[in-house]
Amino acid sequence: MTPDETPLDLGRTGSLNGRPVGRLAYGCWRFPGTPQAGVAEKIETAFEIGANVIDTADIYGAGEAENMLGSWLGEQPSRRDDMVLVTKGGITPPIPYNSSKDHLIGACEASLRRLRTDHVDLYLIHRPDILTGAEEAAAALTALKDSGKAAAVGVSNYSLEQTRALQAFLDFPLAAIQPEISAWATDALFDGLLDHAQAARLLPMAWSPLAGGILATGAAPEKGTDRFEKLIEVLDRIAEASNVGRDCVALAWLLAHPVGIMPIIGTQSVDRIRASAKAYEVKLTRRDWYEVLEAGLGQRMP
Ligand SMILES: NC(=O)c1ccc[n+]([C@@H]2O[C@H](COP(=O)([O-])OP(=O)(O)OC[C@H]3O[C@@H](n4cnc5c(N)ncnc54)[C@H](OP(=O)(O)O)[C@@H]3O)[C@@H](O)[C@H]2O)c1
Repeated sequence: MTPDETPLDLGRTGSLNGRPVGRLAYGCWRFPGTPQAGVAEKIETAFEIGANVIDTADIYGAGEAENMLGSWLGEQPSRRDDMVLVTKGGITPPIPYNSSKDHLIGACEASLRRLRTDHVDLYLIHRPDILTGAEEAAAALTALKDSGKAAAVGVSNYSLEQTRALQAFLDFPLAAIQPEISAWATDALFDGLLDHAQAARLLPMAWSPLAGGILATGAAPEKGTDRFEKLIEVLDRIAEASNVGRDCVALAWLLAHPVGIMPIIGTQSVDRIRASAKAYEVKLTRRDWYEVLEAGLGQRMP
């Protein structure tokens, strides 16, 4: 096997704020609307496959997703320490954003009440609020960290420059970023965010790693149908060779990036959560990886 044919390393463990974590996370966005009874099964299955980072937000179901997770944690308090709990605040429909100090502190405290816990392991500003300066947002995150309500803090959907501006007002490093990243949504690979994550040792968590499901279902989006069909074709070829579903290839493609991207699994199906672990079995060569990228971009690399 030549070095070019050697499968890319997908790793098995990562770290968040110095704590060992699995490479896959599990997200609770789609909890509302699914039966409460399933929460235990979904989280336990996520734990089973090593996905101990559990991601939620105050806005998911207007508090309902946090409530569902919290009510399970209320019944199983010993499971709280087994998870690395992430939540987010700052989206306030219809305003639509508020990252002021008072708002973020109040939002985090409300999240903790719904989650039936005294702290989260990571608190993220969900989206940048143009009307809150970086200094004030940093003061909010500092207060949350100093009070112990958030063990670590970070940002979601921030640009590179917004991330840097916020960091300039913090006396401690941000721990994580959470942009959208998938084989279909590759901006973070090119806009400097992932390079910054590498240099600043930030954990990059990828939301919608299956592009909201279309990379699994193959249901073409309205725009870019030809490009999308080519991407599905490439994912299918690799999936067949590794004997896994194409969703696992899409996850493996993220895991293979050297910065240590953590895909957040979003399925509500226990079987699909379990099957996601097959992503670690995917054999991706360098050429495979670039072929997925080129198909997703709709153009060859220069
Ligand atoms: N920070 C942010 O702004 C932000 C934004 C969006 C999401 N997030 C986080 O990212 C997490 C994941 O996002 P996501 O739910 O959009 O992830 P995703 O994995 O891209 O999409 C999940 C969707 O794909 C479907 N799906 C998954 N595997 C499938 C398969 N093999 N066959 C058919 N359908 C399949 C699921 O349906 P089934 O349930 O039926 O399997 C579900 O509807 C969220 O839970 C949330 O924690 C963060």
